Amino acid sequence: MTYSRIVGTGRYLPEQIMTNADVEKIVDTSDEWIRTRTGVERRHVCAPDQTTSEMCIEAAKIAIEDAGIDVTDIDMVITGTTTPDLIFPNVSTLVQHKLGIPACPAFSLEAACTGFIYALTTADKFIKAGEAKCVLVMGAECITKLVDWTDRNTCVLFGDGAGAVILQPSEEHGIISCHLGADGQYKDLLYYPVGQSSNLALAGTADANIIMSGNEVFKVAVKTLGKIAAETLEDAGVTKEELDWLVPHQANIRIIQAMAKRLEMPMEKVIVTVQDHGNTSAASVPMALDVGIRDGRIKPGQLVLMEAFGGGFTWGSVLMRL
Ligand code: COA
Repeated sequence: MTYSRIVGTGRYLPEQIMTNADVEKIVDTSDEWIRTRTGVERRHVCAPDQTTSEMCIEAAKIAIEDAGIDVTDIDMVITGTTTPDLIFPNVSTLVQHKLGIPACPAFSLEAACTGFIYALTTADKFIKAGEAKCVLVMGAECITKLVDWTDRNTCVLFGDGAGAVILQPSEEHGIISCHLGADGQYKDLLYYPVGQSSNLALAGTADANIIMSGNEVFKVAVKTLGKIAAETLEDAGVTKEELDWLVPHQANIRIIQAMAKRLEMPMEKVIVTVQDHGNTSAASVPMALDVGIRDGRIKPGQLVLMEAFGGGFTWGSVLMRL
């Protein structure tokens, strides 16, 4: 059987760091409230003129070097993002050209915080079908550009960044199973009200902000992620005890802890970056994976469960042996 396998990872975080103390100066909140309710201590915020593709390029360069490949080896580029530089060309196309990757299929997927899981799942299918040999897969967001910095309910949560992986075929091990889901009935619980075909007049006004019912999102996230994790393990014939690592979407430490509890995993087996990154939407899982691999915790051959949940709602998981 041919697997697809992650052979290199990279991440990029913008230079500017905003601590909870900095946020305290903008809205009526406290470091204590943010840390205890969300787990966030600081987040990176992109510069006003910095774009998602620029962050992707920095993360991709590191992943390419880590994989020991040349840009000319890449034959497909997929990016999960909800904050593209432009409506078109898509982010992957911009990255392909600027990195000197030969012309190839390059497209972006929009699935909010689940964007990277959707992108990785798609890349896995192309490799297993024998239609791609080396895919650059990224999750990246300038999500703070969508945030209302006067709304304490949302502004404390988010941060920017980009994560990248290189995926290649492998006869030994790699991605074991992918599970995706979505249900638009939850649209009103978490959304951004401006699009290119609706409410365009709101763009640039005070009403163009992330709208979120935090409590409701929390409840559905925990329930759905628990269900998909159980389904993923059952389908693969893997027990909770066999899992070496959980690499979850970094939305809130309490959602992460609830997931770890359901999987009966001690927090020592969970990669947590929410304290340093905040919720970086589609960038959160690939960046957390990169952190865990680079600091030596996640080792080759270990069993890793990645999962994410986001606006839509969308959700997904990838089980892999690194
Ligand atoms: N600082 C201080 N107080 C705040 C605050 C802030 N930044 N944000 C909200 N509050 C207040 C509220 O006004 C409310 O006050 P009240 O009781 O006087 O009305 C109180 O804190 C509790 O608000 P509530 O919304 O019930 O808090 P919570 O425990 O649900 O935590 C979230 C709020 C947003 C942290 C939490 O619901 C959450 O993380 N939800 C999931 C969000 C998420 O993951 N989104 C992305 C999905 S990909």
